[in-house]
Amino acid sequence: MKNLMAGNWKMHKTIAEGVAFVNELKAQLQDRPERGVLLCVPSTMLHAVATAAKGSAIMVGSEDMYFEEKGAFTGEISPSMVKDTGATATLVGHSERRVIFGETDLVVNKKIKAALTHGLLPVLCIGESLEEREAGKLEAVLSTQIKGGLEGISAADASKIVIAYEPVWAIGTGKTASPQDADDAHAMARKLVANLYGQELADKMMILYGGSVKADNVDELMAMKNINGALVGGAALEVESFTRISNFTCSGKCSCSK
Ligand code: 13P
Repeated sequence: MKNLMAGNWKMHKTIAEGVAFVNELKAQLQDRPERGVLLCVPSTMLHAVATAAKGSAIMVGSEDMYFEEKGAFTGEISPSMVKDTGATATLVGHSERRVIFGETDLVVNKKIKAALTHGLLPVLCIGESLEEREAGKLEAVLSTQIKGGLEGISAADASKIVIAYEPVWAIGTGKTASPQDADDAHAMARKLVANLYGQELADKMMILYGGSVKADNVDELMAMKNINGALVGGAALEVESFTRISNFTCSGKCSCSK
C-alpha cells in the first residue's frame, strides 16, 4: 500500500446508512492494491460496517479507543473490543479528542502503544491551531505532538504507524491548506520522524493530509511529494464524493507512483 484515503464519519450515520455506504463504495472503488481505503466509523456500527467490508479492499477502524484492556471505564471501548468487531485500525489523537475531550500527548502515546500491541493500525493525528500557526509555532507544535505521541515506540513499531496532519483551522471550515503549505508541513513532520527513526523509515511513513479535503481539491493535494493520502471528514459522508476522492487522479508531477 503506497497511499491511504481515510474517511472519518465522526458522530454521523445510522448502522443501516453505514452498511449501505460500504456496499455502494465496494461497487465503485477502482481495483488498485497500492491504494488503501479506510473508513473510521462510530463504535455503534463498527461490527456491522466491518462485516459489510469483509473480503473487500476497504479497511474499517474506530475513531478512538481507550488504552486499558478492561475495567471500570464507563463509556469507553478497549483495543480488544475494537478488534472483536472485525476492525483493523483506529484514529488516535484527533484534534476533536484533544480540544473537546482534553486528550494529552501522554494519553495519545498510551493509545498508540495499545493499538500496536493489539495489531491495530494507529493513525496518529497531529496539527496546529490557527493561533499557533500565526504565532510561528507550527514546527514546535508538530514536534511536541510527534515526540510525545511516539515516545518509547521502537522503530519496528513506528513503521506500522500512519500520521495524519490536520491543521485545526482547516477542519470543517472549507479552508484547505494550500497544497504547498500542506506539503511544507508534511516535509516538516517527515523531518521530525527522521530525527527520531532515521531517513529511511521517515521516507516510507505515510503522512495523510486532512482538513476540508473534497473531490475537487484532492488531485492537487495528492500531486504533492510529501502527501501520501487524505483523512476526510465531511466529504466522506457522501459515497459519491468519497469514491471520487479514493479514485483520485495523480497528476504525475511527483515521482511517487501514486
Ligand atoms: P473535514 O474534511 O470535514 O474538514 O474534516 C477533517 C477531519 O477532521 C477528518 O478527521
